[in-house]
Amino acid sequence: MGQPDELLWDSEPRTLIKHHIYRRYLDCWMGKVCQSFEYATIVDAFAGPGVYKDGLDGSPVVVAKGYLEHSHLERFKNLTVLCAEKREDRRDHLDGLLNGISRPAKLRLQVLEAGEALARHKELDAIAHQHGPSIPTLWILDPFDWAGVPFDLVKACLQRPRDEVLVTWFADELYRFCEHAPKQAAIDRHFGGSAWRAALEVRGEGPRKEALLKAYREGIERLSGSTFTESFSVASKNAHARYSLVFATHDMRGMTCFNQAKWRMDPHRGMSANEWKYGQPTLFDPEPDLSGLRGKLESLAGQARTFEYLVNQAQRLGFTEPQVRTTLTRMDEDGLAIRQSPVKSTTPWPAGSLIRFYAAAADNGLSLTKLSPSTFERVRPGH
Ligand SMILES: C[S@@+](CC[C@H](N)C(=O)[O-])C[C@H]1O[C@@H](n2cnc3c(N)ncnc32)[C@H](O)[C@@H]1O
Repeated sequence: MGQPDELLWDSEPRTLIKHHIYRRYLDCWMGKVCQSFEYATIVDAFAGPGVYKDGLDGSPVVVAKGYLEHSHLERFKNLTVLCAEKREDRRDHLDGLLNGISRPAKLRLQVLEAGEALARHKELDAIAHQHGPSIPTLWILDPFDWAGVPFDLVKACLQRPRDEVLVTWFADELYRFCEHAPKQAAIDRHFGGSAWRAALEVRGEGPRKEALLKAYREGIERLSGSTFTESFSVASKNAHARYSLVFATHDMRGMTCFNQAKWRMDPHRGMSANEWKYGQPTLFDPEPDLSGLRGKLESLAGQARTFEYLVNQAQRLGFTEPQVRTTLTRMDEDGLAIRQSPVKSTTPWPAGSLIRFYAAAADNGLSLTKLSPSTFERVRPGH
């Protein structure tokens, strides 16, 4: 679909998938942030008109409902949802819709005058942080195409310690245009440099899209030593990513929420949903594929690590704390991971426990490659 000209347009399966990821992420984010911080902000910088022609809620309404329908609403503190939209007709439509939502004073829904997100970033940033520079702020960047989000905008949205970004990233279009010389300077602006061009050496649609996504995420991670990224892809008929939602944060608690949302959307691999099969019932619940996590833990053979260290590293790789527990228990059964301390405990992997890893005996049929801990820190699933 090209960019619609009309005020409202019909939703597509991928719109709904995107909103389900937002909603799942927000459920966790609000549960943590809106109870602990006096003020928080969500900036929906490409907000749209607030509803689709077929009646589906637009993202600002998804965000507002996420707050109003949250099981901890009673305990929530102040949240400002700040919306920016380039087109005046869509901006006015959204404003009218949000005015009709009844809400407590602690939920503020604000629509700025029509304008472009990048041009008015300073204004958005000032409102988002009016109660202090460390106000937790989630930036939702959801344009129609890759050219709508230059890297400078992502960079500006990640400058403060509690800024997080959820950006729609267009795998299909970038794959289609990346060899087209007249587009490459604009693609450089989108990636914040030319490192992505290494992906042109990669052959095949799936692998090249993965290489482009990896380059995009690495560009964001290079912004600072404490910027982490994750992604979730939405695939279409041919099962290659059509677009991805890229998440960036400075805080592992944000990563915990995004990883949870990913695994709820895709219980098998925590990586992607297919818009042609989304929501179809499956005969059996798929087992989570934890082989990537297991491989990384096995690479620690001969060393001991705290439970917290393991969880932190696993989260950077896109896994969750319960998955670390499951994997440790399986490795314990195989004699490959043993709790060194505390000696006595009512639960197998209590907070603060120290876990020692062993290599598989040569004759037990398991073959393990011994890797250095730095390998553990660097490798990500699917990369
Ligand atoms: C993909 S739609 C947003 C959909 C909405 N986030 C949702 O999920 O319901 C993109 C919107 O951004 C607006 N837009 C395009 N370029 C923009 C820009 N530079 N700044 C702000 N809004 C922009 C478009 O008019 C359109 O309404």
